[in-house]
This record gives sequence, structure tokens and C-alpha cells, in this order.
Amino acid sequence: MMRLAGKTALITGAARGIGRAFAAAYIREGARVAIADVDEAGAVQTARELGDAAWAVKMDVNDLTSIEDAVRRTIDAVGHIDILINNAAIFTAAPLAEITQDEYDRAFDINVKGTLFTLQAVARHMIARGEGGKIINMASQAGRRGEPLVAVYCATKAAVISITQSAGLNLIEHGINVNAIAPGVVDGVHWDRVDAFFAKFENKPLGQKKREVGAAVPIGRMATADDLTGMAIFLASSDADYIVAQTYNVDGGNWMS
Ligand SMILES: NC(=O)c1ccc[n+]([C@@H]2O[C@H](COP(=O)([O-])OP(=O)(O)OC[C@H]3O[C@@H](n4cnc5c(N)ncnc54)[C@H](O)[C@@H]3O)[C@@H](O)[C@H]2O)c1
Repeated sequence: MMRLAGKTALITGAARGIGRAFAAAYIREGARVAIADVDEAGAVQTARELGDAAWAVKMDVNDLTSIEDAVRRTIDAVGHIDILINNAAIFTAAPLAEITQDEYDRAFDINVKGTLFTLQAVARHMIARGEGGKIINMASQAGRRGEPLVAVYCATKAAVISITQSAGLNLIEHGINVNAIAPGVVDGVHWDRVDAFFAKFENKPLGQKKREVGAAVPIGRMATADDLTGMAIFLASSDADYIVAQTYNVDGGNWMS
């Protein structure tokens, strides 16, 4: 049986990477998915590749008007939203002495403000509709502890875990389950950028940091985006109706909490 039959999902940052894998998995489970991304061409291309159950929505989570517009256009297109995945985020890293205010503002604007106000816009719709819903925020193992060169990104992901807890407690009275996924290290464009950063700051050849972090995961390798889809389907399904305000590690054993 398809676990998300008849459901409509909005996934931010779904043009590539983990968001795209979530969209493909949701479609296989019977959902229709709005591929929302600031990269409009990428979103259009991904929607085309995923077929009739996907469509592209231009959305910049750094812009409240764009968030409201994307949510409204999704509702206009299919009538309602049952599931939101707050997946869009950027990575940033620097030694503490070199962090700039611009970098800090941009990371918090996209990763934290974007998550909160997208959640708010969709929650308002779900409350007015009165049929509950599922909201999944993308946290990270980076939100569980600090890292020497990654203070700002780690802080944004700690904030996502905190928002998940507060929103989860506030919205469950409306039948809206808010939970989060905390991945470890997932291969793709994001980690190519992390690897390039460490190549520069730790003076390593390109690719070495990836090999090191993959070997250090208890399961023995980095994740693929597809390793995360089972949790994303579960949290969006009725099997998760009694799960509220939690953040689940899907990280090959990197972190225990
Ligand atoms: N890759 C990892 O190792 C890893 C680990 C832990 C958590 N995560 C989290 O998982 C999520 C997805 O990561 P990924 O590896 O697929 O990243 P990615 O960089 O490959 O993809 C991010 C997507 O978000 C989009 N995006 C960026 N800014 C946006 C904005 N302002 N508005 C709308 N869309 C925007 C990008 O265009 C891109 O399509 C992120 O929240 C990330 O922090 C990733």
C-alpha cells in the first residue's frame, strides 16, 4: 500500500540533493509534490524528471513575500498542503576569527528565519483547513554539538531543533505533527562544498575530508540522500501521528541522543 496516497507535499530546496530524493520517494508513495526552490531552472528540470505528480514552484525562503506566494500558489494548484519539509538551507564555515556579519545573517536568514516562517505560513493554512498535517524540519548532527570551524551553521541547526520542539508543542493541538531529521554526512553538492572548504582550511587534497568522515561513521560510509527517505516517509505518514517535537538522527551511528 502506498503510504502517502492522496497527500500533497511542499518540499523546499527540492531541486537537488536530499530534497529531490524526498520528492521522488514521496511520489513513489502516492503523493503529489511541489518542488520549491530558489533555483527555478533546477526546480523546473527536477519536476520534469519526476513526472506528472511533481511541479516546480519558485520560492526563496529568505523572502517572506516569496514564502507566502509559494504557499498560496501550491494551495491554488492542488487545493491544500498535507506535508511540509523545510529542507532548504545553506552551509557556511570559517575560523571563528574570520566569521563575517554578512555570512552570519545570510545563514540565519535562510536556515532559521526561512524555516520558521515557511512553517508558519503552512501551519496557518493547515489550522484554517482543520485536518492537521505533518511538518518535517531538516536539522543536522551539526545542531547537536559545536564544530571548530562551523560555529554559524551548527548554531542554525541547533535553532532548527529548538524551533521543532516549540512548534511541535504549539501545533499538536491542531493535529499538526512537527518533527525533524538530523542527518550526519550525506554525499552530494553540499558535501562537495564542505570538502572544498576543509581542503582550504585544513590544507588537505580535495576529496580527503570526505574519505575521512565517511570512514569515521560507525556504519562505515557517508549516507546517500536515499538513506534518509525512509524516515521522511515515516514522519509524513499516519504511523507518526503520536510523534511530537522530536528530532531523529539518521546518521549511521554518528550521534546518540
Ligand atoms: N548533505 C549533508 O551532509 C547534510 C547533513 C545534515 C543536514 N543536511 C541538511 O539537509 C538539507 C538538504 O541538504 P543537501 O545536502 O541536499 O543540500 P544542497 O545544498 O545540495 O541543496 C540545498 C537546496 O536548497 C536550495 N536553496 C538554497 N537556498 C535557498 C533559498 N533561499 N530558498 C529556497 N531554496 C534554497 C538550493 O538551491 C538547493 O536546491 C539542508 O537543510 C542541510 O542543512 C545536509
